[in-house]
Amino acid sequence: MPDAFPPSPPRHVAVIMDGNGRWAAARGLPRSAGHKKGVEALRRAVRAARDFGVQYLTIYSFSSENWARPATEVSFLMELLRRFIRQDVADLHREGVKIRVIGRRDGLDPAIAQLLDDAERLTADNDGLNLVVAFNYGSRQELSCAARKLAEAVRAGSLEPAAITPEVLAGCLETTGIPDPDLLIRTGGEQRISNFLLWQLAYTEFVFVPEYWPDFDAAIFARAIADYHGRDRRFGGLKAHSA
Ligand code: IPE
Ligand code: IPE
Ligand code: MG
Repeated sequence: MPDAFPPSPPRHVAVIMDGNGRWAAARGLPRSAGHKKGVEALRRAVRAARDFGVQYLTIYSFSSENWARPATEVSFLMELLRRFIRQDVADLHREGVKIRVIGRRDGLDPAIAQLLDDAERLTADNDGLNLVVAFNYGSRQELSCAARKLAEAVRAGSLEPAAITPEVLAGCLETTGIPDPDLLIRTGGEQRISNFLLWQLAYTEFVFVPEYWPDFDAAIFARAIADYHGRDRRFGGLKAHSA
């Protein structure tokens, strides 16, 4: 019997936007051309997320390991972020998007850190799509930082070791207050998570797509969501009807 209602969209979609460099190389272009095109794909992804009724979209924009790239590429990516914020934040704000940035702010150019703070502050009261930007983000760093906070609280006498539960630890992560992702999409064909949301992805459905990020569009997004709807999420239990 067909479902009476269409399946509800994933509440939270996390995306590893990968393949910019290979997209460019396949066209005989410099890697920077792929990153530039990637910004257009990001705009399409935000629009599609909103149209599909997704509430949280988390995008992996720069990892803590991406500093290992040549200095010219790193500064190009920093400049691209700066330009994206300057050009797009006002529009996103008008559309009701609420921006939150996760990742280490220290270690960034103070002018960029300021722009990120400003974007969060400007959009803080919006109630549309939640756009979570992972920039200078690394999950192992996030988890070790949480462990440090807990250890300090124990040393200060304000926390009993026995009181450290998954909920308490989750409250020390940068994603505190954000529901765990339902769906992770990685473009570019690699099947790994590259230090992204290691804790939060515990029961997330993974969809790996071969297309490079600059080619990402609403149709690819819709296919990933359809794939997600075909999954049987059990969270360690059993299907409702087999109980
Ligand atoms: C993703 O594309 C963008 C960032 C990691 C900043 P890549 O730059 O990793 O492109 P590939 O994977 O080398 O093709
Ligand atoms: C993951 O892509 C990081 C981002 C998309 C920002 P990478 O291209 O850095 O990952 P690896 O090196 O292929 O694992
Ligand atoms: Mg890559």
